[in-house]
Amino acid sequence: MRVNLLTGRSIISVDDLTSEEFEGLLELALRVKRSIKAGLFSLEKEGKSVALLFQKPSTRTRLSLEVACNMLKMHPIALNWNELQLSRGEPLSDTARVFGKMVHCVAARVFSHDDLYTFRDYAKIPIINALSDKEHPLQALADFMTIKEKFGDFKKVKIAYVGDGNNVANSLILATAKVGAYISVATPLNLKPSPDIVARAKIEARKTGAKIEIDTNPQKAVESADVVYTDVWVSMGQEAEASSKIELLKGYQVNDQLFALAKPEAYFMHCLPAHRGQEVTESVIDGPRSIVFEQAENRLYTTIAVFYSVL
Ligand code: CP
Ligand code: NVA
Repeated sequence: MRVNLLTGRSIISVDDLTSEEFEGLLELALRVKRSIKAGLFSLEKEGKSVALLFQKPSTRTRLSLEVACNMLKMHPIALNWNELQLSRGEPLSDTARVFGKMVHCVAARVFSHDDLYTFRDYAKIPIINALSDKEHPLQALADFMTIKEKFGDFKKVKIAYVGDGNNVANSLILATAKVGAYISVATPLNLKPSPDIVARAKIEARKTGAKIEIDTNPQKAVESADVVYTDVWVSMGQEAEASSKIELLKGYQVNDQLFALAKPEAYFMHCLPAHRGQEVTESVIDGPRSIVFEQAENRLYTTIAVFYSVL
């Protein structure tokens, strides 16, 4: 079959193409489809397209996903949720089905965790959670990569998580259970991590020997910890509750006094972005035992590992 080359041409109107060119494109598309269905089309990584869908802002996740795609010679397509037909009422299920026909994988940052399942069910391609209201698994991978670099053996590590029982906390708890470490979580009573996540983590912990403590006392959590971890008090999408959350979390700041209760060689961790003066003081996050930028750097390597594995 002769294929008409359209190199360098724009196709803004059907009228930009001659009849021969138009039909040539249809024939080519049918051949491509057949070869893919027959498993004869190249499936090397350089042929992969990955949609990066964002419903909320991002710096680290967006950057690491795009750079990971480039390093694997894949094609990243960064999309803002509000620019899609979704914002005009197209059902997520229809959107997902279209994504599933065109890209090989979707990494999505969404408000509703359930939207990721809808996406997975309809797109039928790998969906990577790039942060939802409930979890942040890519972050937890980088966190534990960083902890492994520092300590080697997870079984000997006590992590104290102090602050809001949010998405980052949920993933950290589950990841702790998976690797068999020890996590002591201190949050206000009304801001506890998700009960279903904690229940799941406790079941996993029975297999791995992990220890999961959920309490309200920050001093007790931090006592003799190897790692002290916190996150923002007001997550994306919670702006309306900001003042009530800040009020509840006042006693949960990671400052010099609280950090002093951890082991003398303990590290400070934070997924970033941070609010200095709120969940953590400058003296701690910019101090010598802060490893927040090593954590951030590890986002890239773990993301490459995820793409390499799922594709
Ligand atoms: N830690 C993290 O996910 O950062 P971003 O919100 O900048 O992606
Ligand atoms: N808990 C924060 C994490 C940001 C990376 C949020 O959801 O906004």
